[in-house]
Amino acid sequence: MIVFDGVSFSYGSRRVLRDVHLSVGFHERVAVLGGSGEGKTTILRLILGLIKPDEGRILIEGDDITAKREEELRDVRMKFSIVFQEGALFDSLDVKENVAYCLREYTSMSEEEIDSRVREILGSVGVEQAIHLMPEELSGGMHRRVSIARSLALGTPKMFLYDEPTTGLDPVNADNICRLIADLSKDGRGFIMVTHKVSDALKVADRFIFLKDGSLLFDGDSRGLLHTDAPEIRMFIEEIGHQGQGC
Ligand SMILES: Nc1ncnc2c1ncn2[C@@H]1O[C@H](COP(=O)(O)OP(=O)(O)OP(=O)(O)O)[C@@H](O)[C@H]1O
Ligand SMILES: [Mg+2]
Repeated sequence: MIVFDGVSFSYGSRRVLRDVHLSVGFHERVAVLGGSGEGKTTILRLILGLIKPDEGRILIEGDDITAKREEELRDVRMKFSIVFQEGALFDSLDVKENVAYCLREYTSMSEEEIDSRVREILGSVGVEQAIHLMPEELSGGMHRRVSIARSLALGTPKMFLYDEPTTGLDPVNADNICRLIADLSKDGRGFIMVTHKVSDALKVADRFIFLKDGSLLFDGDSRGLLHTDAPEIRMFIEEIGHQGQGC
């Protein structure tokens, strides 16, 4: 379980989160929604201990990570598979080396073991045929899949964290990524998917959190989200509705 206990966070004088209380089980399938700059990515960074709250505590499986040092945070981060917003593949490395990177860095696997592990992971996300391509040669959807493959390289996470996994993709690719996200969670491992695409979130998540002005304006199921009276959320949903179906 991830617990935010009265978390506040600012970048300099810019207050992003105010006294946020939140509990998320590792099995839950959660979408964190909100407009640009509302603090969605910040929440993921806090979970990973990449930034520290100004006030409050963050507990991961009962373990207070707020005051942990960098070397102690490695075990915390290993619980998660993380796909960042930018996708961030290394441009100068081909797909195989991008996925192999963490294996080379953190394990003593032989070349043969690395090769077979990379092929296995790429196969599991449906891009084995891209193994020798460079990032610039990948379509947007393939790029996202390879980013997901890379996040899986080090083993089986307890939970997936996705930052805008379908943003910038055409509806077909976005749909495929949603399917992959759903497939990866079939065995009960949950995810937190940060997105501003409500239509995509509705396809895969069953708990929805809407961030506004540093607080959780909404936390509930899809019925509650779609029937809310909160004008900020209604406007958001209607706006997204006009942008096409997504996945
Ligand atoms: N490293 C940083 N230094 C200063 N301000 C930052 C930094 N990162 C983010 N911010 C600011 O903090 C606020 C929240 O950022 P965050 O990236 O969490 O938003 P977001 O909801 O993920 O937005 P988007 O939908 O555009 O990705 C924004 O106003 C942003 O400009
Ligand atoms: Mg973001």
